[in-house]
Amino acid sequence: MIQSKLPHTGTTIFTRMSQLAAECGAINLSQGFPDFDGPDALREAVARAVLQGHNQYAPMTGLPALREQLALKVQRLYGRNLSAQDEITVTPGATQAIFCAIHALVHPGDEVIVFDPCYDSYEPAVQLAGGICVHQRLRLPDFAIDWPALEAAIGARTRLIIINSPHNPSGALLSRADLDRLAALIRDRDIHLLSDEVYEHLVFDGAEHQSVLRHDELYQRAFVVGSFGKTYHVTGWKTGYVLAPPALSAELRKVHQFVSFTAVTPLQWALAEFMQQHPEHLAELPGFYQAKRDLFCALLADSRFVFTPSPGTYFQLADYSAIRPDLDDVAMAEWLTREQGVAVIPVSVFYREPPADMRLVRFCFAKRDDTLRAAAQRLCAI
Ligand SMILES: Cc1ncc(COP(=O)(O)O)c(C=O)c1O
Repeated sequence: MIQSKLPHTGTTIFTRMSQLAAECGAINLSQGFPDFDGPDALREAVARAVLQGHNQYAPMTGLPALREQLALKVQRLYGRNLSAQDEITVTPGATQAIFCAIHALVHPGDEVIVFDPCYDSYEPAVQLAGGICVHQRLRLPDFAIDWPALEAAIGARTRLIIINSPHNPSGALLSRADLDRLAALIRDRDIHLLSDEVYEHLVFDGAEHQSVLRHDELYQRAFVVGSFGKTYHVTGWKTGYVLAPPALSAELRKVHQFVSFTAVTPLQWALAEFMQQHPEHLAELPGFYQAKRDLFCALLADSRFVFTPSPGTYFQLADYSAIRPDLDDVAMAEWLTREQGVAVIPVSVFYREPPADMRLVRFCFAKRDDTLRAAAQRLCAI
């Protein structure tokens, strides 16, 4: 008998819902990935990189050309000068980056504060490091931090706080005032920050992403995590990065070099080339996804779902109380998938203890317009 190190962890809801969608032939608005491809020039660059022989290990910290491109991007967007040598590490996906950052910092018995609803990879990584997740609920309906509750939760054993803006699943954004408040709370304490910013470019209605990279005080104690998969519509490439001050990066790299050692070489060549040749991609991204959000919300206006357009990410939450108040959200997600032909994600699974009356499901609108139209037609017929 194996004594499980993660006895309460099963197959993730994202895998389960995508499997169910495939079994039922449902339109899959559940798992967060595009049903369209990344840019042609990027995909061609990978093919070229493979054929040109860029197929052996890349440097442990990432291809220098790609780290240089990330440094340029951060300079341009957030006004921070990072050392490509000492502060940027390319990883096989944001998930691996998060895992390594947690393992670099968390000792047995340390507490890590996470905000529910929260992304599902944080807690298992904390548990495997011997740490304890302290769950703070975000305040409904706008998924904002409950500051008095956070202050009360911080104690002598708190080692790390994990934030995620733009936020999966709600799309909520942290403001500059939020970052200032957080800085004041952890000042004079031995607490670090993990800032999951994989949706950094998916911010709508003219809002500006408040990266921790803009915040001098917070950055000094932060790991900032990004994902090329999200930004370039290639989630299957599983390539991400961590930005952190030199001392933190050095600790992170000790873990990273024995989890994977490095990220996939030809993908890094292609990403570096594409970032250099197509800086307009980043500028166009918010408009591209805002148009999809607007289309989906306009189509859904004729349904009985109730929602406020998402301020960021490629997710839209919707309340289904007017349709099936008798079903909890897991049952609702199954019913929508099996009976109505549209797969979604229940929001309660992002909580340790979900609010009892939660009637929210999450739609992913990173889909072709015809997919969104077909799904909305089904949803409006309910
Ligand atoms: C909030 C959040 N963090 C991290 C990730 C993981 O990104 P990657 O695919 O680069 O590992 C995701 C993917 O869905 C996410 O939603």
